[in-house]
This record gives sequence, structure tokens and C-alpha cells, in this order.
Amino acid sequence: MLPHMLENKEIFACPGCGGDLQLSDSSITCGGCSHTFPVEHGIPLLFWPNEWEAGKTDVTHEIKAFYEENPFPNYDGFERVGDLVQKAEKSGFARMLNEQIPFNVRVLEAGCGTGQLSNYLGVAHRVVFGTDICLNSLRLAQQFKEKNDLNRVGFYQMNLFRPIFKPESFSLVICNGVLHHTSDPFSGFQSLAKLVKKGGYILIGLYNRYGRLVTDLRRLIFRIFSDRFKFLDPRLRGKDIGDLKKTIWFMDQYKNPSESKHTMGEVLRWFGEAGFDFVNGIPKLTAFSRFAEKEKLFRQNPPGSRLDHFLVQTGMIFSGSKEGGLFVMIGRKKS
Ligand SMILES: C[S@@+](CC[C@H](N)C(=O)[O-])C[C@H]1O[C@@H](n2cnc3c(N)ncnc32)[C@H](O)[C@@H]1O
Repeated sequence: MLPHMLENKEIFACPGCGGDLQLSDSSITCGGCSHTFPVEHGIPLLFWPNEWEAGKTDVTHEIKAFYEENPFPNYDGFERVGDLVQKAEKSGFARMLNEQIPFNVRVLEAGCGTGQLSNYLGVAHRVVFGTDICLNSLRLAQQFKEKNDLNRVGFYQMNLFRPIFKPESFSLVICNGVLHHTSDPFSGFQSLAKLVKKGGYILIGLYNRYGRLVTDLRRLIFRIFSDRFKFLDPRLRGKDIGDLKKTIWFMDQYKNPSESKHTMGEVLRWFGEAGFDFVNGIPKLTAFSRFAEKEKLFRQNPPGSRLDHFLVQTGMIFSGSKEGGLFVMIGRKKS
């Protein structure tokens, strides 16, 4: 039985042809093209490969293989929902999201990894869909969900370029730390943007071209000195995460087979082209503006000027290195 999928049956679509999906206990069949998708350990395997023109680079399989070996960010031994809540609340970002996403809405996390955020957001009364290409990550996510009876969360294997949902199905789509590991981040963004309802939100986290410079430098040092001097990374010398998480962090940050870097101006253009208004950013897009402790994440802020972006992004060289130079931007789909 797939209760989460059954309860939300109307929003699913075949990733191959867009047809309606028919569910049985052990498999899912498309009513349009008759393709059958298996279900493993309660996870519908709805991955569909990219069908890009010949010659276009596609890192999907390479990235999938990497994360199958290194499921990110992993659970580090904690098993109970109380531990998850405690950890998530330490990170102001997850806590703010949880406090500010309304109840009774559908939220999609594309590239959920091991599903901490999806599981955490599903503790409260909202319906969450955690999706990823990596089956080992999804298995860890599903195990945690099952152990803690988080029935409002469902995990699905999905390639974000070939969505398994109908357009305009979600009030919020989250895609944090994912698109920069694909061959075509902008078309990945466009694919996800279609899934947002009018008036709904998209939240994108990407490596910043400037903010990532310190990580790039450390990567070079690690390469030259055969992975010695790991203490140069603040997370690796910190005491707040265990050895497993440190190893996974090291692999994700320094041994990843594919990553790209982006700028605030670029994402503003993506928003414009896909019909989104800029709402908020972490860090803020205007220079000298601080992110408040009680920040309203979904309240509209000015998008800043080129000079603002330059100042904020060069500031990230010094301030953003613990997070690997990640920046987040939130947009709202025009009604
Ligand atoms: C750095 S992890 C981020 C995980 C999670 N969002 C987080 O912030 O902890 C990147 C994730 O993106 C997933 N991913 C990469 N390409 C993808 C694609 N085409 N479709 C879906 N997920 C993808 C990887 O499998 C991996 O789990």
C-alpha cells in the first residue's frame, strides 16, 4: 500500500508521458504509455532519465553514483523525531521555514537527500513530498519516516528534470544545494518552477561564485597535500557533528564530481524568465541589510542593485565559508 501517494493521487503524472498513474500494492502503471514503475521498501521508483539532444553533457548518472556512495547529509546515528527537531531548530533556517510555512499545504523538496528537512517539515500538519535520484539517501529518509510514523511525508525517486507531478501542484517547492550538481541548472529550475501554484513560492539554494572561493582554495590545498589539513574547514574541526557526517561533508564539498557556481543577478534573471517576483534572500540582496532573528521569510524585499550584489557576494567570501558559500533565494509565482 502507498497511502501517501493514494491520498494525493490527483497530482501525480507519469515522468515519461505525463499520463495519469494507476497504483497497485507492488507497482505503479501509467494509464497513458503503460510503463510500469516498481516500488521498493515503500519508495516508488519513478526515476526517468533525461532525453536530451545528443552531445549535451549529462552528469545525472555520475552524481547519482556519487550520492549512492555518500548519502547526504545523513543521520549521524540519531533516530527519534525529538533529535531531528532539536537539530533542525539549531539551524535557524529550518526552524524559520517550519514556523512560517502554513499548515495544510503541499510542499515539494526536490533533491531531499536523506530527507531531514522533509521529515522535519512533515512533523507539523502539512503534506510533504521528498524526492531525489539517490536510492540510498531515500532509504535512510524512509526508515526515519517509518520509525517515527511521519505519515504526512512521502519519499519518491524522481529526476527533477522529469517531474512526477502535474503542473501547479505545490504551494512551495524547495530545492536546496541541488541544481548546481546538475548539467543544466537553469532548465532544472524551469522544470521545478512549473510545479509551483500561482501565488506559491520557490526556494532555491546554490553555490555562490564568490562565496565558494574559500572552499575552492581549501580543495586545492587538500589536493596538493593529499587530504591533510582538514582542520581548515570549520565543520571538520567542529565538535557538533560526528565522524560519519564529517566524512560525508568532506566528500560532498571537496570530492564532488560536478558542481557549478551562480550569482544573485543570474537567479533574479531566472525568476524573471519563469514569471516569479523576488521575495527574499539569505544573505539579503541589499548591502548592509541584516537577516533578522524573526525574519519573515516570505515577505517581499528589494532585489538590490548590481553594486549591492557585488558587496554582498564579496562579503560572502568571509562570512559564507562555513556553509560552503551557499546562498538562498525565494521567489513568488505571479498570480
Ligand atoms: C548536496 S545534496 C543536498 C541534499 C539536501 N537538499 C540538503 O540540503 O541537505 C544534493 C542532492 O541532490 C540530488 N540530485 C542531484 N541531481 C538530481 C536530479 N537530477 N534530480 C533529483 N535529485 C538530484 C542528489 O542525489 C543529492 O541527494
